[in-house]
Amino acid sequence: MKINIAIDGPSGAGKSTISDILAQKLGYAHLDTGAMYRAVGYAALQRGYKMDEEEKIVKMIEELDLVVKTDNSIILNGEDISGKIRTNEISMAASDVSKLKNVRKALVAMQQKIASNKGYIVDGRDICEVVLPDAEVKIFLTASAEDRAKRRLLQNQEKGIDGDYETILEEIKKRDYQDSHRENSPLHKTDDATEIDSSDKSIEEVVNIIMQKVLEKQ
Ligand code: DC
Repeated sequence: MKINIAIDGPSGAGKSTISDILAQKLGYAHLDTGAMYRAVGYAALQRGYKMDEEEKIVKMIEELDLVVKTDNSIILNGEDISGKIRTNEISMAASDVSKLKNVRKALVAMQQKIASNKGYIVDGRDICEVVLPDAEVKIFLTASAEDRAKRRLLQNQEKGIDGDYETILEEIKKRDYQDSHRENSPLHKTDDATEIDSSDKSIEEVVNIIMQKVLEKQ
């Protein structure tokens, strides 16, 4: 029996990496909801909108041809923008548009439709509570801001992206604050989610903890 797995947590805790591995092991699909907020931030910036122009951005979403492929590449109006949405500028734009109630409403509806057939690992900030309140397995994956900044620096270096540790740490803390203090669906651990701190754990250890929970439910 296929189930749904919800994974919430702050940026850089390893949600995407862990979700990809779980998807491969289980033969499930991984839906990266952060990439959808990033695509909306990207499209709004392209149009020169301010990030608080809710009405314009919601109307824009209705008109966008946004496709999330099962490999999580994001196609916007026919163009693969997967690489373009990973910059610091788009990270902040995504965090900004994700504060808007009606932007969330539109994207949550899309996410619920995608995951309705089960067999999904959905990662984000509001998955346990809002997107998939009935998910069979719920995880809150976290790590210290310092560990997350170290990992992000390494990832950036591998991709040839410039940046220093202090700037990345500052950006992570700023986004953490914004994502957990917003009015609409702020990032927090729900009572029914299992918290895993990945600071002192290998990827394999985290995957094994979640796999155990999945096997209990399947
Ligand atoms: O996971 P990420 O860093 O790619 O997410 C980008 C931004 O989108 C993040 O700052 C918070 C927001 N987000 C959200 O509010 N809800 C989600 N389900 C996923 C992401």
